[in-house]
Amino acid sequence: MKPTEIKPAWLTSPKDNNELIERIWPASATRDADGEVVFAGVPVSDLTAQFGTPLYVIDQTEFESNAITVKSALEKASARIGSDATVYYAGKAFLSTEVVRWIDRLGLNLDVSSGGELAIALAGGIDPKRIGLHGNNKSSAEIGRAVSAGVGAIVIDSEIEIERIASTAGAQGRVQPVRIRVNTGVHADTHEFLATAREDQKFGIAIEDVPALVAKIRALNHLEFLGLHSHIGSQIFETAGFAEAARRLVKLHAELLKTGPVPQLNLGGGFGINYNEGDQAPGVETMALDITDAVAAACQAEGISVPKLAFEPGRAIVGRSGVTLYTVGTIKDVKLSDGQVRKYVSVDGGMSDNLRAALYQAEYSTRLVSRVSSAKPALVRVVGKHCESGDIVVRHDYLPSDVSNGDTVAVAGTGAYCFSLGSNYNYLQRPPVVAVAEGKARLIVRGETEADLLSRDACLEKD
Ligand SMILES: Cc1ncc(COP(=O)(O)O)c(C=O)c1O
Repeated sequence: MKPTEIKPAWLTSPKDNNELIERIWPASATRDADGEVVFAGVPVSDLTAQFGTPLYVIDQTEFESNAITVKSALEKASARIGSDATVYYAGKAFLSTEVVRWIDRLGLNLDVSSGGELAIALAGGIDPKRIGLHGNNKSSAEIGRAVSAGVGAIVIDSEIEIERIASTAGAQGRVQPVRIRVNTGVHADTHEFLATAREDQKFGIAIEDVPALVAKIRALNHLEFLGLHSHIGSQIFETAGFAEAARRLVKLHAELLKTGPVPQLNLGGGFGINYNEGDQAPGVETMALDITDAVAAACQAEGISVPKLAFEPGRAIVGRSGVTLYTVGTIKDVKLSDGQVRKYVSVDGGMSDNLRAALYQAEYSTRLVSRVSSAKPALVRVVGKHCESGDIVVRHDYLPSDVSNGDTVAVAGTGAYCFSLGSNYNYLQRPPVVAVAEGKARLIVRGETEADLLSRDACLEKD
C-alpha cells in the first residue's frame, strides 16, 4: 500500500461495527443485553473499574483450548507419518509463572530464550527437563544456570558455545543435551518465503558447517547431541517455506545419521494467526499436515525413517487469547491530501504496550467495547500517547463515528509479543495482566507504579 492511501484493500466498511469477528476475537467475547462486551463472563466495565487501563486481558480458556488444539494437531500429524511430536510453548510470546503452570498442566514443554525467561519458567515449577533454552548470545551465567537446573535441551547457536556448554556441564559433572540451530537459508514472511544459500541474519549455523560441529559435540563426553533445530520466521501463512526448510534439514539429518544417532528434528514455531479482516490463516491443523507431509517425503527421498519431531509455537497459542483495553482520550479528524478524513483516536497506552505495529507494521483490529453504537463507521487510526508519530496501535480499522473521550476500546490479538515487547518509553508504567475465566478476573502480573519507576533511579534524593 502507498503511504498516502487511506486504507488497505482488505479493509471494508463494516455492516455492523459492533460485531466481534469470531476468527479475530476470543471465542468467549460477547455483548451483554446493554451492549457492553463481556470477556469470559467478565464485563469490560468490571475489568476497567478494578484494574484501570491500559489493561492486558488473557482469556484463560481460549489460551488452554488453543494449546490443546495446537498440541494435538502437531501430534496427530506427526503420528500419521510414523513419528511423534514434542510441543514446546514459545515463552517469548508471553510468559508469567501462571502461564508456566497452565503449560505444565496441559503437558506442553516450554521454550525460553534468556536467563530472565528461564527464571520465570523455573519459578513456575515446570520440570526443567521439559525446558529448552535458545539464544544467539547466551552468557556464561545463563548457560551455568540452565545446566545446573538440568534443562532438557540447549540450542547451540554458534561454535564457541560447544566448548562453553561442555566445560560448564563437565564442571558440574553433568551431561547436557544440545541441539544445533541451522541457518537453512529459508526465511518465511507472512505470505512468501525466501530461500538463499545462507540467510543474511544472526541466527544459526550454515548447513555446510554443521557436520564438523556435530562431530565436535559427539566427541565431548559432557554433551549429548539431540538433533537439528530451525525456526524460519513468524506469522507464517504458507507452508512452502517450512517444506523447503524441512527438505534441507532432512538431507543434513540423513548425512549426520551416517556417523551417529540423531534422535530428533525441531522445526521451530511461526504459525500465523488472524489479526484483521484481511488475514486468512490456514490454521495449525492444515499447516501441521503440510509440514509433516514434506518431512515424510524428504525422509523417503533420503531413504531414512522419520525422526521424532519437535515444534515451538507461541503466537498460535496465546495470540488470540489476549486483548488490550484502553480508554479513549483525545480525538482528531485529520484531513488527508486527497480530501478524505482519518479519525485519530488517542488512547492511554501505545507503543510501550504494543510495539508490533511500529516494529513490523502489524495491522490490528479494534472495537468499541464499553457500549454499542449505531453511528456510521468512521475510518480510524488508534494511536498512543508517546512522543513519536509512529506510535500507532491500530493502523487501519473502523470505529463508530461517535467514539468519544472516556469510551473503552479493545484491540484484539494482543496476547503474543505485546507484553513481552513492552517498555517504559516516556516513563509510562507497564500495564497489569489479568486472566479471565468463568466469570472471574484474576491479576497474574501486577501493573507498574510510579514508585517502581523511581525505585531504579540510583541518584534520587531520598529526603
Ligand atoms: C526459535 C524460535 N522458536 C519459536 C518461536 C515462536 O514463534 P511463533 O510465536 O511465531 O510461533 C520463535 C519466535 O520468534 C523463535 O525465535
